[in-house]
Amino acid sequence: MAELAINGGAPVRPASYPEWPERDAAYVDAVSQVVASGRWGGWPEPGPQAEAFESAFAAYQGARHGVLMVNGTVTMEVALKALGIGWGDEVIVPALTFAATAYAPIAAGAVPVIVDVEPRTWCIDADLVEAAITDRTKAIMPVHLGHQMADMDRIMDIANRHGLAVVEDCAHAPGQRWRDEGAGCIGDFGSFSHQSSKILTSGEGGSLLTNDEQLARRAHSLVDCGRAKDPEEQEYTFGANYRLGELHAALLVVAMERFPSQQAERAVNGKRFEELVAGVPGVRVMPADERVTRWSFYNYVIAIDPEAFAGRTNEAVSAAMEAEGIPAEVQYPPMSRYELFQPGLSRLPVAVEHADRLDPARMSFPVAEAAGLRESVYFMENVFRSGTEGVESAVEALAKIQRHADELPPVTA
Ligand SMILES: Cc1ncc(COP(=O)(O)O)c(C=O)c1O
Repeated sequence: MAELAINGGAPVRPASYPEWPERDAAYVDAVSQVVASGRWGGWPEPGPQAEAFESAFAAYQGARHGVLMVNGTVTMEVALKALGIGWGDEVIVPALTFAATAYAPIAAGAVPVIVDVEPRTWCIDADLVEAAITDRTKAIMPVHLGHQMADMDRIMDIANRHGLAVVEDCAHAPGQRWRDEGAGCIGDFGSFSHQSSKILTSGEGGSLLTNDEQLARRAHSLVDCGRAKDPEEQEYTFGANYRLGELHAALLVVAMERFPSQQAERAVNGKRFEELVAGVPGVRVMPADERVTRWSFYNYVIAIDPEAFAGRTNEAVSAAMEAEGIPAEVQYPPMSRYELFQPGLSRLPVAVEHADRLDPARMSFPVAEAAGLRESVYFMENVFRSGTEGVESAVEALAKIQRHADELPPVTA
């Protein structure tokens, strides 16, 4: 008889985890008030709701300025453009991330130079960053992945020695702090996503944070059709309309009020999960770096050893976790295998000229490939909002799957 729920056995957790995004009267009221006000759009930029969120989020994260816009992809494009990065420039990005991190340089007209990640955190490998620098390199875009932060000491040291800009992709990292500095406040810009699955969400949306007043002004201008934001200098930029509407911004104002207590709850349960899951055979935990002084995470990522799971890989294990009632995913393939990221199709002259550097067939990223294709299993944020019992079920389900892994469908590819 089958034991695993994916084969018809009884699931470990028939009870569901809390919904995400939350949906209750406070959100409905906030949106209703904007509807009644008639001020629905994002122009004049920023609107009152956008401004309220920008300042609350920037203060929480520890930045001087926040700039709200439509998503966490154009944030990075805008950041690069505000830094003056474009045609012919090179931007170093990691091989394990969402396609947006590599898309953004292309959208700005630059070439994404993809380097492997380090095995300890699956964030960008600083040694490989340094080795990839050429006289065209203008920026590094580390990604704080899952529950980790990239080694910002090394990244900033390299950037400072080579005169490079740093744009942190913090889509997963609102709330994180590195040596008491907020994620996104260490480099020139931090980019955040407020898309539905993210822990600070309005369904769609993105924010840039920066400590530099001029960069903030340029970013505001770029998202508002290039309008000058400084009445004295009248600095216009070549911008488009990336403004977020006020209905979405109002949702973020409510979400921000709740964020600190949700973050603290996930951190407590995340630690408990880390202790328990380390006891499952064939599981490697990757605790956050000691330099992370406030731990806040989007998804918690573990590495499984396929050998200990009867040769089955992360895809089979996360599908089996879902069937057991535990929200889990594979998330990202390595950049060399990304369906969504096909730079050869961009037709930008710069991408054509550098086609060899952007041809996935010629890319080899052993650490990202092992992580993305075999090892990484991401546990979704709501697993960490059901108390100790919520993480205990997740660990119980993983241990069950490991014990009965030979029941999982065999690997075909
Ligand atoms: C690491 C990373 N960067 C960028 C993005 C892009 O954000 P958005 O979906 O808001 O465009 C995402 C999210 O989907 C992400 O996970």
